[in-house]
Amino acid sequence: MVPMNETSLWIFGYGSLIYKVDFPYLERRPASINGWVRRFWQGSHDHRGLPDAPGRVVTLSPQANIICKGMAYRVEPSVLEHLDFREQNGYARLITEIDFADDCRTDGVVYIATEKNDAFLGDAPLHEIAAHIQRSAGPSGSNRAYLLQLADALRDLSVHDAHVFDLESLILKWPSQQGC
Ligand code: BEZ
Repeated sequence: MVPMNETSLWIFGYGSLIYKVDFPYLERRPASINGWVRRFWQGSHDHRGLPDAPGRVVTLSPQANIICKGMAYRVEPSVLEHLDFREQNGYARLITEIDFADDCRTDGVVYIATEKNDAFLGDAPLHEIAAHIQRSAGPSGSNRAYLLQLADALRDLSVHDAHVFDLESLILKWPSQQGC
């Protein structure tokens, strides 16, 4: 069941939800969730790739004693319908504990694409993931721009994510196809 009082609930963003905020929110706060690591392991057929040439976007993989930092938003329940549609390519809602910097904690929703979904790509050598991102694009733009925007958004939050930043370093050695 979605945890909510009568008018709002918290959602936790760790990927495009950090920087692409195309929904109204009542409040937003840097936050983290425990036991998950951010990885470019999900295929994208609808945003950063195409059905016959999927891109690679982030999902969360379970890992003990790791925290994933991102941004939490307090939203009206109707926002979930918008996000269910926006992130329909393999992501499902999970209820999780969300921790805020001031030691406050709440239950909330996070979207995760597990290894059981059809679009899941999983792990690969980092240079292969980078090359995959470099060549992919879809209706929402280039996969490269997605990675660079996410890296910038994490830096703005003072979050160091070695997986994302190592991919960014590899990608920045190659020229942009589309000026970004
Ligand atoms: C997120 O930024 O939390 C997110 C990423 C992909 C799908 C849904 C949510």
